[in-house]
Amino acid sequence: MSSIFSKKDIPLIAHALRNGEVCAIPTETVYGLAASITHPEGIKKIFTLKNRPATHPLIIHIHTLDQLSEWAFDIPEYVYQLAKQFWPGPLTFVLKKTAAVSSLVTGGQSNVAIRMPAHPLALSLIKAVGCPLAAPSANRFGQVSPTCAQHVLSEFQGTVQVLEGGPSQIGIESTIIDARLPHLLTILRPGMITEKQIASCLQNKIAITSPHLKSPQLPGSLPYHYAPNKPTMLFHSNTTLAALKRRYGHALFLITLSQVYTYTLGYKMPSQPEHYAQKLYDVLRTADQSQAQAIAIESPPNDAEWQGIQDRLKKASARDSIESV
Ligand code: TXA
Ligand code: MG
Repeated sequence: MSSIFSKKDIPLIAHALRNGEVCAIPTETVYGLAASITHPEGIKKIFTLKNRPATHPLIIHIHTLDQLSEWAFDIPEYVYQLAKQFWPGPLTFVLKKTAAVSSLVTGGQSNVAIRMPAHPLALSLIKAVGCPLAAPSANRFGQVSPTCAQHVLSEFQGTVQVLEGGPSQIGIESTIIDARLPHLLTILRPGMITEKQIASCLQNKIAITSPHLKSPQLPGSLPYHYAPNKPTMLFHSNTTLAALKRRYGHALFLITLSQVYTYTLGYKMPSQPEHYAQKLYDVLRTADQSQAQAIAIESPPNDAEWQGIQDRLKKASARDSIESV
């Protein structure tokens, strides 16, 4: 049986999910590995397939804003303001969970992460299942997230069914906000919806903190995550690049922004952050599967719009110190 499904198969997939199966689904950020939040078997399969520790909570995906109060309570007013502007879209709220949310989904926590994805097939499927879908990124724990159906097939060697929805339009995971306090929100994971956009939507009336670099709460904030298997290093200057070239020669895969390197393996990234994010994970996978021995990534600008990308690049390269070159 084919592992790839299309729009017409949504009733079939919905039936399978209601019965405790899992299916990879497209979202605008990355592909997710989805199960119905009301079926414990499906949720357990997600953790097993991903090899993810059971204490690491999952994001649940809803398809209408009125569903929010069924799964969360004490919802601050600013959450509705943000949801009205950014949903469906790459923004996730951590809120106090109602008793209806199984603690299997939240890793035993009393909070639940909720978002409404901006992908028509994901929304249709959630509607067809009749309850939210828990969906972490459809990759093995700690690996690079998938941004197309083919990535999912190769990640799980074809053992996971995938709903084909084309390449992910955003390309990196959603911005996650801890929204449990009425007058303060915390950005737990930066993404393509920036702190500046959030502040401006709320007319700077709500205080915003972003300790995401230190937060111990998120697996995504482990020192390394989203990481290729090959040594991966971020370089900030030509001097460091020269040292990397001396060490690896032609066996270096260069992911650059400003220059074209014609004599080696590599990829010149788009200069707009939106386009860069769309390409990033695909390029990291290509680099990992290439002949190269190591991957060198030119550090992008430190500007606000690049924050989500900077975060992923730091994590992808955290394991491999450039000083040892
Ligand atoms: O864009 C996305 O968010 C994608 C798509 C598929 O929706 N999903 C995604 O899920 O990135 P995942 O599991 O790979 O990352 C979710 C992050 C994890 O770091 C997890 O710890 C955090 O969200 N998270 C989930 N529930 C939480 C909760 N109740 N409290 C705090 N953090 C939570
Ligand atoms: Mg993930």
